[in-house]
Amino acid sequence: MKLPISESRFLREYWQQKPLLLPQALPGFSSPLSAEELAGFAMESFVESRLVAKSHGVWTQQAGPFNAQDFDRDDEWTLLVHGLDQWHAGVAALRTHVDFLPRWRFDDIMVSYAIDGAGVGPHFDRYDVFLLQGDGSREWRVGGHCDDDTPQLQANGLTLISEFEPTDTYLLAPGDILYIPPGVAHWGIARGESLTFSLGFRAPSIADLLAHRADNLLELLATTSLLEDMPDLPPGRPGEITLEHIRNAKDALANASDALDNHRWFGETVTRERASEADDFFDSQLSLTGPCVRLSGRTRVAWTEREQHLDVFINGETFEVPSSAIHNLMALCRQEHLVLAHLADADETLLTALVAMGAIEDCDNDGR
Ligand code: SIN
Ligand code: CO
Repeated sequence: MKLPISESRFLREYWQQKPLLLPQALPGFSSPLSAEELAGFAMESFVESRLVAKSHGVWTQQAGPFNAQDFDRDDEWTLLVHGLDQWHAGVAALRTHVDFLPRWRFDDIMVSYAIDGAGVGPHFDRYDVFLLQGDGSREWRVGGHCDDDTPQLQANGLTLISEFEPTDTYLLAPGDILYIPPGVAHWGIARGESLTFSLGFRAPSIADLLAHRADNLLELLATTSLLEDMPDLPPGRPGEITLEHIRNAKDALANASDALDNHRWFGETVTRERASEADDFFDSQLSLTGPCVRLSGRTRVAWTEREQHLDVFINGETFEVPSSAIHNLMALCRQEHLVLAHLADADETLLTALVAMGAIEDCDNDGR
């Protein structure tokens, strides 16, 4: 992805702060899928899709799966298909354009098709999004920062900003990207038929991180560990809990947490799979026939370098893998394929873990 500024300046001044237009970030970009293929995915029950329409000023929203008649309509409509990177290798390959950002934050690629004049209305999202224009063009109106106090209206399952005042308007052509940080108001309106790819980054919730860290620590903590009083315990009044008692307990908790922390809660939380109806459908479908493999689109992988090995997190579980597997692991994270015949013994541990988690698949015949 070609940024108009340096990556470090983008991270310092724009990321999670300000919108930025990236004109021709992907020069010569041609959409890896057509509107017809998108409609096909929206007909599948294992794919999450929505149809947003506006007729005589009234917004409606419908959840998929859809059938062909649903797309034969005369109102202003947009079809949105979520998580398409899980199901389409060409869409999944778009992830590599944002590799300079922490991959563990990456959520999904949503693809929307809108007819001329259609859009999903003024709103804000809680995640960072790169809006990559595929086919056609789309006008993006961008406003200020919003939060829970911003007046919003509920319209048939849609949450829209009631008084949207755009401060900037951008017309995106294929290959242009508009970056929108969390909380910034925006509204895309198709100019002609338009296909847009939204590369979304979602932060893990503090509640999830805290719960997972506590679970991991409790597994490691001896139940015999008891709270000790501070050495200079002052005499207390009958029945009283003092701030010192609490401070002492907080210190003890922090010390125990730090001493036992193996840091795995973080990788396990951020790679945990989103609950998906497809789980049963796709379980145990794995049989590698070679000659090469790649991560399946549904896999979330992250890793941490430890002194003696790598902690590899695959869909919420940790595996210890020899350090020498690092290059192949990074290649997989870059969406590249591995030739099975070229793997060393150390890579077998990695491959076994990936196979056990159903996280890997054969490449297409052309190696994609
Ligand atoms: C769209 O593609 O029209 C909606 C994407 C968004 O606003 O986040
Ligand atoms: Co949005």
